[in-house]
Amino acid sequence: MLPTSSVGRKLMMAATGQMMIIFVLFHAAGNSTIYFDKLNAYAAGLHAFPFLVWAVRLVMLVAVTFHIYYAIRLKLENNAARPEPYQKKKEIESTFAGRNMVWTGAIIGTFLVYHLLHFTLQVIDPATAARAHLDSAGRPDVFLMVARSFQKAGIVAGYLFAVTALWLHLTHGIQSSFQTFGLNGDRSFPLVRGGGSVAALGLLAAYAAIPAVIFVGLLLR
Ligand code: HEM
Repeated sequence: MLPTSSVGRKLMMAATGQMMIIFVLFHAAGNSTIYFDKLNAYAAGLHAFPFLVWAVRLVMLVAVTFHIYYAIRLKLENNAARPEPYQKKKEIESTFAGRNMVWTGAIIGTFLVYHLLHFTLQVIDPATAARAHLDSAGRPDVFLMVARSFQKAGIVAGYLFAVTALWLHLTHGIQSSFQTFGLNGDRSFPLVRGGGSVAALGLLAAYAAIPAVIFVGLLLR
């Protein structure tokens, strides 16, 4: 069932990576309801379907675990197999984002642990926890939690750093995953590379805007 060849392992990386890309697209769309004062309604709507929430969590946990496992395996295999002169050539040809996938991945992983403790488990700053404050409709006040958090410079700096790492990771990861699936022809490759860069930049804008806009005081209730 699990891949035994390095091509199979690359396919696993690409497939699990694309599952996470779909998650970050949906999460960015869900978060953007904050601009219409609908974040609490959106969060309450999601939690009204606990089975669905837990099914997605489980699938994403499996995807993240495989993605990290095969990333480490492929990195170790590449390090062991790559002869010295070829390595130099490859480094000249490759991009900053491509060379630093392990580091940007590690930053995103660390951020995710913090983010889950912060907004999902709500244990980082219990005073702003959504479950401790209900809005006028009796729903957990997710807006208040997010808005109070992004009034703190340190938290905003941490989020901006993490979403910059996410942008770098996706700039390389989106095009690389499509190439692994065979979209690497003379005509398709420029499209895949261009589309990947645009999508990564769009996600950076979507994720960076919320903390930035709240911090400068533009998003008030
Ligand atoms: C401005 C940036 C972001 C905001 C405002 C934000 C907001 C939130 C909120 C409010 C929750 C809790 C949802 C709930 O339980 O009701 C959450 C959960 C989560 N966020 Fe984010 N998020 C941001 C960026 C990110 C990024 C960049 C990632 C991924 C790299 C991410 C991944 C997740 C995950 C995996 C969960 C857990 C979902 C679950 O409960 O199962 N978030 N986020």
